[in-house]
Amino acid sequence: MNQDELFKKVISHAKEYGFIFQSSEIYDGMQAIYDYGQNGVELKKNIRDYWWKAMVQMHENIVGLDSAIFMHPTTWKASGHVDAFNDPMIDNKDSKKRYRADVLLEDYAEKLRQKANKECVKAAKRFGESFDEAMFRETNPRVKGYLDEAQETMTRMAKSLEAEDLEDVKALIEEKGIACPVSGSKNWTEVRQFNLMFGTQMGSTADGASTVYLRPETAQGIFVNFLNVQKTGRMKIPFGIAQTGKAFRNEIVARQFIFRMREFEQMEMQFFVRPGEEMKWYDYWKEARINWHQTLGLGKENYRFNDHDKLAHYANAAADIEFNFPFGFKELEGIHSRTDFDLKAHEEHSGKKLQYFDPEINENYTPYVVETSIGLDRMFLAVLSSALREEKLEDGSTRTLLKIPMPLAPVKVAVLPLLKKDGLPEIAREVLSSLQLDHNCQYDEKDAIGKRYRRHDAIGTPLCITVDHQTKEDQTVTLRNRDTMQQERISISDLANRVEELVSIKNLLKP
Ligand code: GAP
Repeated sequence: MNQDELFKKVISHAKEYGFIFQSSEIYDGMQAIYDYGQNGVELKKNIRDYWWKAMVQMHENIVGLDSAIFMHPTTWKASGHVDAFNDPMIDNKDSKKRYRADVLLEDYAEKLRQKANKECVKAAKRFGESFDEAMFRETNPRVKGYLDEAQETMTRMAKSLEAEDLEDVKALIEEKGIACPVSGSKNWTEVRQFNLMFGTQMGSTADGASTVYLRPETAQGIFVNFLNVQKTGRMKIPFGIAQTGKAFRNEIVARQFIFRMREFEQMEMQFFVRPGEEMKWYDYWKEARINWHQTLGLGKENYRFNDHDKLAHYANAAADIEFNFPFGFKELEGIHSRTDFDLKAHEEHSGKKLQYFDPEINENYTPYVVETSIGLDRMFLAVLSSALREEKLEDGSTRTLLKIPMPLAPVKVAVLPLLKKDGLPEIAREVLSSLQLDHNCQYDEKDAIGKRYRRHDAIGTPLCITVDHQTKEDQTVTLRNRDTMQQERISISDLANRVEELVSIKNLLKP
């Protein structure tokens, strides 16, 4: 299966097995807005729990928060979102399709990098074990040409966007001969800025109503509560505040399924540090976050850092953790050193001090902030797309399998009576009730046992417990492992421990 086919399969599988539905589907849906079905909501919750436990529960100096989606409108003036939360958009005059100008250029650069990678793969085959890839990348004229051009394109784009020189962004698109992916036409409009915040009216009368925004990030709810939490929690710097919740962006180009949505969920943590110590913590969080990802076992080679050339208005250092999605390496998480920009801006706009007295150095200061920010939906897509596979079995048949990391699987255990008679369903229900307080379990008695195994493989259920006639004689059941398809015979009294050993989230979080 190539990557395009895989991506199409992921989308159709997500719908067919109750992970993700198009929002308001009976009315033909809404672009870039999705609903999570019965299995999706469990997987999403498990990813959120994995994040929350790793960030809050496992750090004694990080606490949680759940701030409101609506915030005082001045929040967004202070944060810079009213003036600067824009994307450069460009329309193709022939296809009438709208694009983000920076994304067109990023895709162009990515294609050049892919060409360079292909050359490396070919050369590696040609030279065998003596191949030195780093040297090849630096010295092979063709590969170096691709990589230099990609870098130059990104550097010039970053410079032009920084200087708000949108004419140069358009000139760059034209110079590179970038065509509309739909029509192939190079007939472009000017590049214009487009604000991504959704606004709405709060208040019942038109006169008295004021414009409020649906938050475009959860971070600002943390900043405006910085002192509330610090004082009531008696927090000492360095400390962090974490929250998960919905964010909204009127994305110009909403595509790639749940990768770029207009309503999505973020998991963000703001870590408040002493000024001057931010780079130490920035490095710390880069490492901690990549370790969190790699512990899941989706393949170390599927992650890479992208250190930013173009910094957001609030940052003095920033990097993305990129994941190898079916459509290539793309941003999954951002780690940003946000300086004291946000707290200072809120001090200025609110007239309230947001400072900390540091008893160790006997000084008042506005803390600096290092942020980790990951999209829950993107993480969901990373897990789902790397889990889906079709396996050829020894008997020549194929099975569709979701090899989701076991602790994240929506359903952990399926309890299956071999037959719908002879007292087997009753025993199976007893087994179910002994496990369901600790794990999300399902009881399933419909269809032949093989079909039931397949059904649970397809939603990623790690363990199937089958109650058969032998169970009545010796109180044992079979425990089938999703990945190996091996079955072990195990006593019912040992089940709880064995299941816990295999699917517990502790397996991911052990220090
Ligand atoms: N508070 C910082 C912040 O919001 P960001 O890089 O704009 O930074 C953080 O967003 C993360 O949120 C991204 O790495 C991505 O995972 C997720 N994200 C951003 N926009 C998204 C969208 N339209 N749909 C889904 N996820 C999105």
